[in-house]
Amino acid sequence: MKTVTTLSDLRAARLSLKGTVGLVPTMGYLHEGHLSLIQRAKEECKHVIVTIFVNPTQFGPNEDLSKYPRDLERDLNLIRPLGVDLVWNPSAEGMYPSGYQTWVEVEAMTRPLEGAMRPGHFKGVTTVVAKLFNATQPDRAYFGQKDAQQAAVIRKMTQDLNFPLEIVVCATVREADGLAMSSRNKYLNEDERKAATVLFRALSAAKELYEAGEMDAEKVRGKMKEVVTSEPLAQMQYVSCADYDTLEELDVVKGKALLSMAVFLGKTRLIDNFALG
Ligand code: PAJ
Repeated sequence: MKTVTTLSDLRAARLSLKGTVGLVPTMGYLHEGHLSLIQRAKEECKHVIVTIFVNPTQFGPNEDLSKYPRDLERDLNLIRPLGVDLVWNPSAEGMYPSGYQTWVEVEAMTRPLEGAMRPGHFKGVTTVVAKLFNATQPDRAYFGQKDAQQAAVIRKMTQDLNFPLEIVVCATVREADGLAMSSRNKYLNEDERKAATVLFRALSAAKELYEAGEMDAEKVRGKMKEVVTSEPLAQMQYVSCADYDTLEELDVVKGKALLSMAVFLGKTRLIDNFALG
């Protein structure tokens, strides 16, 4: 497994990979969710490239960029047994040298949900992912359903900008009690960690209501709200029952829909989602 930092080293290493290449972009502090993407890429591609880069442009001014967990040695030890060919760990200065001024922006789909709560977030995500695609030239790129809007936005960017690659979206990996794995779970204290199952509980209750025949989206959102507000340590930011493709809020649940939410446990902001239909 080769680890490179500079773009020129990455290019040289990429040229030596013949056959299909799978890319797994990450911000590091890896957990089983990230590893499942790497394993899937390994199954489907001759070579796998993992990128580890805490992308500053996708963090808002009041977000957790400076305290985002980082441990490269730990990450490399987790990746090494998986048969990854190349790890690219660029520097912020390498990705955004002084005078940098080019951005990639997807429009309507980035306005609701995470886009509404985190202005500029998706502009940072699509810009860095476009740069990662250009630099690594993958045949397939792997993303998690955990960040459903991100996966949808990246798929749209890939189509709209004619990137010649396939986007593969992999199921959310969860802890035994249902909490979706996330690098941010590390911030939770013991009580917050217990309370954090409220996202899974709320999504499960809403899905059950839908499966029992409820098609009124407001009632489905109401169920999620009821469960989240019943947890004293949780503070709801939004709950949504939206069209799966456009991410616009629904009145009636029909076709494929996305239940999603953002909830604060103390200072830690967690997101989760279920697909319906
Ligand atoms: P990061 O949060 O490190 O996540 C990297 C990838 O792992 C994303 O595609 C994310 O959806 C996926 N992932 C995270 N938790 C998961 C889980 N529990 N189960 C399955 N997949 C999971 O998302 C980012 O980084 C960044 O925005 C990035 C795309 C790298 C651009 O900077």
